[in-house]
Amino acid sequence: MTRIAFVLLLLTPTLKAQEEIAETPAASTATERYVWNAEHDPNGIGKFYKGREIAHVMGFAGAVWLERDTREEEERLTLLVKSLKLKPGDVVADIGAGSGVISAIMAEQVLPTGFVIGVDVQDEMLLRLQENARRKGVTNIVPIKGTQQSSSLAPSSVDLAIMVDVYHEFEFPYEMMADISKAMKPGGRVVLVEYRMEDPTVPIKLVHKMSQRQARKEVEQPEFNMKWTETIDVLPRQHIIVFTKQSQEE
Ligand SMILES: C[S@@+](CC[C@H](N)C(=O)[O-])C[C@H]1O[C@@H](n2cnc3c(N)ncnc32)[C@H](O)[C@@H]1O
Repeated sequence: MTRIAFVLLLLTPTLKAQEEIAETPAASTATERYVWNAEHDPNGIGKFYKGREIAHVMGFAGAVWLERDTREEEERLTLLVKSLKLKPGDVVADIGAGSGVISAIMAEQVLPTGFVIGVDVQDEMLLRLQENARRKGVTNIVPIKGTQQSSSLAPSSVDLAIMVDVYHEFEFPYEMMADISKAMKPGGRVVLVEYRMEDPTVPIKLVHKMSQRQARKEVEQPEFNMKWTETIDVLPRQHIIVFTKQSQEE
């Protein structure tokens, strides 16, 4: 492919564009795994993984947007959490929890013995998550500081790990998934909630969308031992893509 054709492909806001960009070959080191391109979507970081450009991390200023009054109507957060069918006693990891809007809804569902671990890389987000939880009287959320390559979760400790509008901004998606996979109990579920790339009418920047096909390509790598189980399509703008951690024998 010529350089001009390649750049045009990058700038074309279609599903095809995300999936047709030359793929990173199977690679074992971070340098081989990722591809950097000087010309790229301004909303992305210029780093590509399996044909997808990684988005910028939402800064702390975005917390106000995460807490906006219209979010329930736009994203149906209550319905999202209901569709996860959480049980009392579940250990839930909200990875990229931000200011904890979804952590708080989930925390209620796992009472009296379960809890939510709110993981984020930004101290300001974690502080706001704690303030919000205190204000709402929620006592079963544990904040944890992660890094760009690690969730800081203990091995085999989590029943359900969820990333709502987060995975596409992981700077090291391979390393994060390898780490999250280790933190899952066998049979535990990993859930990606991402804006539907398949639907051009979904009003969000292109690098903030993901297709189901792309998500499965990234998560169902043999070393993660993760199998797609269902995609729950009840939300107006996002799909809820569910993977299950297989036991070693499966
Ligand atoms: C768009 S916000 C979504 C917040 C929350 N999930 C929600 O929907 O309200 C993305 C969050 O992911 C966090 N994040 C980005 N990369 C991360 C990583 N590697 N580990 C943990 N959190 C991360 C960011 O700091 C930010 O707070």
